[in-house]
Amino acid sequence: MKKQLLLLACLFPILTATSQNTTIKSSIENVEKKVDSIVSIMTLEEKVGQMVQYSGTWDLTGPASGNQNQYREEQLKKGLVGSMLNVLSVEATWEAQKLVMENSRIKIPLMFGYDVIHGYKTIFPVPLGETASWDLKAMEETARISALEAAADGVNWTFAPMIDISRDARWGRIMEGSGEDPFLTSRVAEAKIRGYQGEDLSNPATIAATAKHFAGYGFAEAGRDYNTVHVGENELHNTILPPFKAAAAAGVATFMNSFNDLDGTPATGSKMLQRDILKEDWDWDGFIVSDWGSIAEMINHGFAEDLTHAAEIAVKAGSDMDMEGGAYETGLVQLVNSGEVDEALIDDAVKRILRVKFKLGLFEDPYRYSNPQMAQQLNLKEHRAVARDVAKKSIVLLKNDKNLLPIASSVKNIAVIGPLADDKDTPIGNWRAQGEANSAVSILEGLKSAVGNNVKVTYAKGADLGMGERTFLKPLKINTTDKYGFKAAIDAAKKADLVILALGEDAFQSGEGRSQVEIGLAGVQQELMHEIYKVNKNVVLVLQNGRPLEISWAAENIPAIVVAWQLGTESGNAIADVLFGRYNPSAKLPVSFPRAVGQEPLYYNQKNTGRPSNPSDVTYSAYTDEEKTALYPFGYGLSYTTFEYGDLTLSSEEMNPQESLTVTVPVTNTGKKAGKEVVQLYLRDMVASTTRPVKELKGFELVELQPGETKQVSFTISNELLKFYNVNKEWAAEPGEFQVMIGGNSIDLKTESFRLN
Ligand code: NOJ
Repeated sequence: MKKQLLLLACLFPILTATSQNTTIKSSIENVEKKVDSIVSIMTLEEKVGQMVQYSGTWDLTGPASGNQNQYREEQLKKGLVGSMLNVLSVEATWEAQKLVMENSRIKIPLMFGYDVIHGYKTIFPVPLGETASWDLKAMEETARISALEAAADGVNWTFAPMIDISRDARWGRIMEGSGEDPFLTSRVAEAKIRGYQGEDLSNPATIAATAKHFAGYGFAEAGRDYNTVHVGENELHNTILPPFKAAAAAGVATFMNSFNDLDGTPATGSKMLQRDILKEDWDWDGFIVSDWGSIAEMINHGFAEDLTHAAEIAVKAGSDMDMEGGAYETGLVQLVNSGEVDEALIDDAVKRILRVKFKLGLFEDPYRYSNPQMAQQLNLKEHRAVARDVAKKSIVLLKNDKNLLPIASSVKNIAVIGPLADDKDTPIGNWRAQGEANSAVSILEGLKSAVGNNVKVTYAKGADLGMGERTFLKPLKINTTDKYGFKAAIDAAKKADLVILALGEDAFQSGEGRSQVEIGLAGVQQELMHEIYKVNKNVVLVLQNGRPLEISWAAENIPAIVVAWQLGTESGNAIADVLFGRYNPSAKLPVSFPRAVGQEPLYYNQKNTGRPSNPSDVTYSAYTDEEKTALYPFGYGLSYTTFEYGDLTLSSEEMNPQESLTVTVPVTNTGKKAGKEVVQLYLRDMVASTTRPVKELKGFELVELQPGETKQVSFTISNELLKFYNVNKEWAAEPGEFQVMIGGNSIDLKTESFRLN
């Protein structure tokens, strides 16, 4: 009897799993059947209509496309539009949906897309900053909340996560991604997709996600946005594509292609990327939306003659939906009628689009996301608490000489100085969705509410940074001359025990179209820092930034530096939490900070080159006027405690391809405070059929340790982890020696090696 029960207990999960699989399978089959039957009754015009996406005029996030509202309304009524972007609110989405549902012949609901990049109303840290937390659970949670708030406002599709690997701090969009590493970005992509889409897209609290920009956009030459990308196949597969592959495997509903030309072919017109790799090799069944006008822009690229030609190239390449490009609308019907384009390609695109609409539950209830009750159920207070939690986890402590931080109780007079010190807008960052202007807690506010009455806090702005109109589309003016506030700031610094100096970047210095040739402290900030330092050496530099900054002088002179990115709604409170030691910083850089802008693109996972070092003369790969290493490397970040790594133990010195091995390291908290450490695993393939990076992140774990406590941290190394895109154009692990390295950043590492047989 006991035995039988045991057997039943063992079988139960299998039985449940099998019955679940059958249900899942049959519901997928059902969707496919429904999709097929709808497509079979659609006219060619209606099918092409599904492939068209218009922007509403409520929030214009791209160059204006003409005043055609009347015409567009008619198209909606005829059912000749598949989706809209930038239409927000329950009322507006309801109205737009009604136009389609009450007037069109076959009544296919619209999808409503929007750039929900780091929060909707409650704003979380910009993605680059949030990645610095290395806390995947937290990142999933902020995506879940973003989805909830967006869904309550009619949006059922976000154009996020952006998973472009970016190694160039000049590129303004580096703030939107997860930095320079494919492994970390892949894990963030999965977490974000889980957060936005949940387990079930038809749950109205979840929204469809987008993996963007496919592909290569982050490699814009010279860091200039939209610029040409020259990468070879090796780099493409080993560095750029892995996060996209992970996103496809995680079931992301849609992809967005990219503006750039990749090795001679605009990505939007690349069959190799869209059909061969994404849809064929990765067997992904969602749909690809173009970037804003990127199909039409193939004319500017000199790749298409006119809109019709651009439509032909894009549809053949596998772009399924035309965002504001007008090309599909203009050319596709004619192209099919003349036999230039096979209607089967149109059918495939439409099926992909309808599949996502089915999964979102829109065929059951087209107004599911236009539900006023959802907004009433939101607990914005709870969301703010999450915003504060993730913001403090994202702050990187770069330097802390003489333990200036956390601020000691003996400090009775603090001067808070700098253009960003009482700035309530910059922490909201660029790509702020419906985050209100000037709605963040400023550093000054955060510090004031943290100190209570027995510490005097004096504020002096010193100077302005961004001036005049500050909007998504317009260039930002930087104050480069006016030093009106220097005197008051210097006076305040003189009288203070401690200066909190708040410098960095305006929110609109990074983001789309915000590339810069200089990445230092813009305007008069550097000079302000020098003047303050002259009169008070106890300076804590708090940087708010959307990109790695060039801060060599500060690194040499200023005793304490924290990187606070643009942290969102609760920014000032989170900064105060860290500065006063209520939270012990645990974040680590997801991008290298350079010594000089001339090092860009700079990244830790470089190739060795044939001349890695020869310090006795100049004939090696280096610079004559600067070190070639990062000022602060990838993975770097301090804590108020210290961690020590012991020697690595390998479960074996060799492994066969079917096996795996374990590497273990003891990590000890050698300081006096409890703290969290991001333990990082790197691997190096010593000799391979193509050149390989000197190290690559292949695992990480966030470990919490009490003072004096030691934990054994283990990583499993499988054959899968050793694979790369090799000379035979295959993902394979090649036999030979591997180095395994573990540490608290990409430079200070303990090393061992093993052989793959
Ligand atoms: C252009 C941007 O490149 C893309 O990321 C964004 O989603 C669209 N505009 C829509 O706003």
